[in-house]
Amino acid sequence: MNITGKEFDQLADLIRKNYGINLGSQKKIMMVGRLQKILEEHNLKNFGEYYKYVLSDTTGNAASLLVDKITTNHTFFMREAEHFGYFKEKVMPHFTSSLPDRELCIWSAGCSSGEEPYTLAMIVDEFLGVQMALWNAKILATDLSSKVLEIAGRGIYLNEQVGHLPEIWKRKYFHKLDDEKSVLVDRIRNEVIFRRLNFMDSVFPFRKKFHIIFCRNVMIYFDAATKKDLINKFYNLTVPGGYLFIGRSETINRDESKYVCVAPSVYRKE
Ligand SMILES: C[S@@+](CC[C@H](N)C(=O)[O-])C[C@H]1O[C@@H](n2cnc3c(N)ncnc32)[C@H](O)[C@@H]1O
Repeated sequence: MNITGKEFDQLADLIRKNYGINLGSQKKIMMVGRLQKILEEHNLKNFGEYYKYVLSDTTGNAASLLVDKITTNHTFFMREAEHFGYFKEKVMPHFTSSLPDRELCIWSAGCSSGEEPYTLAMIVDEFLGVQMALWNAKILATDLSSKVLEIAGRGIYLNEQVGHLPEIWKRKYFHKLDDEKSVLVDRIRNEVIFRRLNFMDSVFPFRKKFHIIFCRNVMIYFDAATKKDLINKFYNLTVPGGYLFIGRSETINRDESKYVCVAPSVYRKE
C-alpha cells in the first residue's frame, strides 16, 4: 500500500499536534509498515480514509491503536546503567538523610513496558533494606501507549530480558514462571503505579512534586519547542534539590531551562 505526500503530512501533523512526536519527512515507509494492517482490518482503501476514521472515532480506540503503532517503545532493565549508579550512590543517600517525613516521590515519565521503573524499584528496595517498611517510596510510571502499560502492569518478562541482572536480584525479585518467563515479586510490582499520561496535556494531574524524574529517550522524538515546554513542566514539578535524568544521548541547553547539569544527562533544580 502507498501513502501520498498529502496523506503522510496530514497524519504526521495529527501525531505531532496530539502526541508531540515529530516523524520528520523521512518516515513514510515506517508509517505504511506500522499502520497498513489496521487499514486492511477496517477495509479502508487509503490513508486519507484512515485519517478520517481516526478523527471520527469518538470511542478513542482508533487514536489509541495509532499511538500503540507509532510510538517507539524500546527499553530494557538497567538501560544506561551509569544513571542507576548515580541514583544509588548520590541521589538515594541525599534524600534518605534529608526527608524527615520519609516520603520519596519518583516519576518514570515515558516508562514504556516497565523495565525502567522496576529497575528503580529494585534499587530503592535494596538501598532501604529493612528500612523500606518505614518509607513511602512509591514510583509513578506513565506512558502514552496503553499497550506498553498493560505489559508493564503484568510484570512478566522473558528470562533473556532478565538474564544480565545481578544473580542476587534474580533470586530476590523474580520468580521463574517457566523455561521462558519470569515474573517480578509482588513487593516490587506494588512499588510501581502505572498510569496513562500524554505529555501534551496542558495540565498534569499531580498533587505533589517529585524528588526524582526520569524521562529518558522520549524527548528525542519531539521538536525543540515541545521539548522545551515539557522540560519546564518537569522543572515546575520538581522539588528544590530534586533531579531530572534524561537519555544519555540527550542534552538540555542553558537557555531551555533553569536545571543545572550535575553529571552527564543528570540535572538538578537548585
Ligand atoms: C524509547 S521509550 C523510552 C523508555 C524508557 N524511558 C527508556 O529509556 O528505556 C519512549 C516512550 O515514550 C513514550 N511517549 C512518546 N510520546 C509520548 C507522549 N506524548 N506522552 C507520554 N509518553 C510518550 C512512548 O510511548 C515510549 O514508550
